Amino acid sequence: MCREPRTYLARGPRVRVLRVKPFSRKPDSHKSKIVKEKLMLHFPPECTVIPPRIPACIVGLGPGGFIGPTAHGPNLLASNMFDIRWAGTEPNTDFHVNVAKNLRLPQENVSSDLAALFRRMVLQSQAKDVSLPPIVDICTPTHLHAAQIKLAVESGVRHIMTDKPAVGEIAEIHQVREVLKQTGAKLWVTFNHRYNFVVAWLRAYVAKHPKRIASIDAGFLQDWLIKEVHFRQADWRTAHKYCALLDILTHAADLASYVAGAPITSVEGARVEASRWAEFFDAGYGRLMFGNNIGGSAQCSQSSKGHADDIYVCVTETDGRRLMWRMEWNPDALFVSQTPDIENRSMFSQRLRGHSSFFAEALGDEKLATELAQQYGKNPPGHIQGWVTLWYFLFLGIAGAYCRDLQLPCIPFLPKAMQIEPPTFEDAGVQATACVHAYAKSAENGGKRVTLAEVLSA
Ligand SMILES: NC(=O)c1ccc[n+]([C@@H]2O[C@H](COP(=O)([O-])OP(=O)(O)OC[C@H]3O[C@@H](n4cnc5c(N)ncnc54)[C@H](O)[C@@H]3O)[C@@H](O)[C@H]2O)c1
Repeated sequence: MCREPRTYLARGPRVRVLRVKPFSRKPDSHKSKIVKEKLMLHFPPECTVIPPRIPACIVGLGPGGFIGPTAHGPNLLASNMFDIRWAGTEPNTDFHVNVAKNLRLPQENVSSDLAALFRRMVLQSQAKDVSLPPIVDICTPTHLHAAQIKLAVESGVRHIMTDKPAVGEIAEIHQVREVLKQTGAKLWVTFNHRYNFVVAWLRAYVAKHPKRIASIDAGFLQDWLIKEVHFRQADWRTAHKYCALLDILTHAADLASYVAGAPITSVEGARVEASRWAEFFDAGYGRLMFGNNIGGSAQCSQSSKGHADDIYVCVTETDGRRLMWRMEWNPDALFVSQTPDIENRSMFSQRLRGHSSFFAEALGDEKLATELAQQYGKNPPGHIQGWVTLWYFLFLGIAGAYCRDLQLPCIPFLPKAMQIEPPTFEDAGVQATACVHAYAKSAENGGKRVTLAEVLSA
C-alpha cells in the first residue's frame, strides 16, 4: 500500500520519508524486451536448460594471421556461446607458445600437429572433460581447408566451420562432400556479410515484391593489388590464378544469391582480368541467373583505386529505383537513389582507419598516426568497425544450428539471433566455388552461358 510522504520529527534535522513506488508487476515493456535481446543473456527466463559453451578449436590462430585473431576469436567469445579450448597453429613456427599464453590455455591444447590435436579433442569429449562435442573452426589459407576439414572429420569431429571459400577446387568439393556424407558431420561456411539488418531486409523485400525487381547486382572492390605486394596474406592469395575470384567474388556472389533468395544457376558474359604485375586474376565480372528467374550480376576487383573493403549489393527495381547496402559507406544504412551511377554517394568522402594516408599526412607524423590507428582499431586496416557485428550474429547463428543438430533441450527457447540459418557447405560453400569456376569457363569461351551444374559435373 502506498502512503503519502510523511515527515517525522526526530532529534536532529528533519527527516523526510519519500514515497517508494511498489515494484511494477506489469509485463516487460516492448522497449525492455529489445534491450534484453541485445544483452549477453540470449535465453529467456523460461529456459532452464541453457547449454554450456560450445568447446571450440580455432585452426589458424597465429600472430599476424588475419581472420582468426581479428574476426573469429573475438566474436566467438563475444557471442558467449563458445569457449576456445584448443588452437591449431602453423607448423615450423613457435606460434603455439605465444597462442597458448594469450589464450591462457594449457600448452598441450595448442599445437601445429593437427592430427594429434583433433584426436585429443575427441578423446577429451568422450571422457566428458568437456560437456559438449567440440567444434573446429578453420581460419587457414584457403588451399589448406579441404585437407584440414577431412582430417577433422576423420578424427571424429562432427561439427566444423570454415571461412570462405570453403574450398578452391571442384575436386575438393567432391572430397569434402564425400567425407561429410559418410559421417554426417556438419560444415558451416562463414559468409559473414549476410548478417546485417539491411541485407536481411533486402532479401525480404525481393521475396515480397518479386515483380518489381529488375536485377540484383553485387560487387566487392578492393585496391591492395594495384601494385606488386608481398606479405603473408598477399602471397598465398596471389599464388592461385583465380585470386580475386576465390577471395572476394565468392562473397559478392553469395550476397547476390542470398538477397535473391535463390541459388545461382548460371553465369554468362563473364570477363576476368589478369593483374598488371603477375599472371593471376585480380578482377572479374559476370551476369548471374538465379533459380527464381531473377537476373543480376557479380563483380570483383582487387585493383580498384580508392576501394578498401567495398562490398555491396544493389537491388534495381523496374522503375529504376536502386536500393543498396554498401558496407564501406555505412554497414547500417540502406542507400536509396534513382541514379544509375552507384559509385556516386555524395559530395562527401569517408576515410577509413588505416586505409588512407590522409591521417599521417595531415598530422605530419606517420609513426604516431599508425600507432593511434592500431591502438584504437579492432579490425584490420580498411575494415570498418561495424564489420565485427556481422561476425557476432553469424556465430550466434552457427551456435543455434549446432544446438538444433544435437537436439539440445534449449531448442524451443532459442533466441531470435540463434534462429538465423547459417550458410552450409552444401548450399553456400559449393555454390561459391562452382560460381568461380563458371566465371573462368565462361570467360575462356567468349562469355558463353555456363551452368553451375555443368561445372560441378565436369
Ligand atoms: N569472411 C571474410 O570476410 C574473410 C576475410 C579475410 C579472409 N577470409 C578467409 O579466411 C581464411 C584465412 O585468411 P587470412 O587472411 O586470415 O589468412 P592469414 O594468412 O592471415 O592467416 C592464416 C593463419 O593460418 C595459419 N596457418 C598457416 N598454415 C597453417 C597450417 N598448416 N596449420 C595451421 N595453421 C596454419 C597462419 O599462421 C595464420 O595464423 C581464408 O580462407 C580467407 O579466404 C575471410
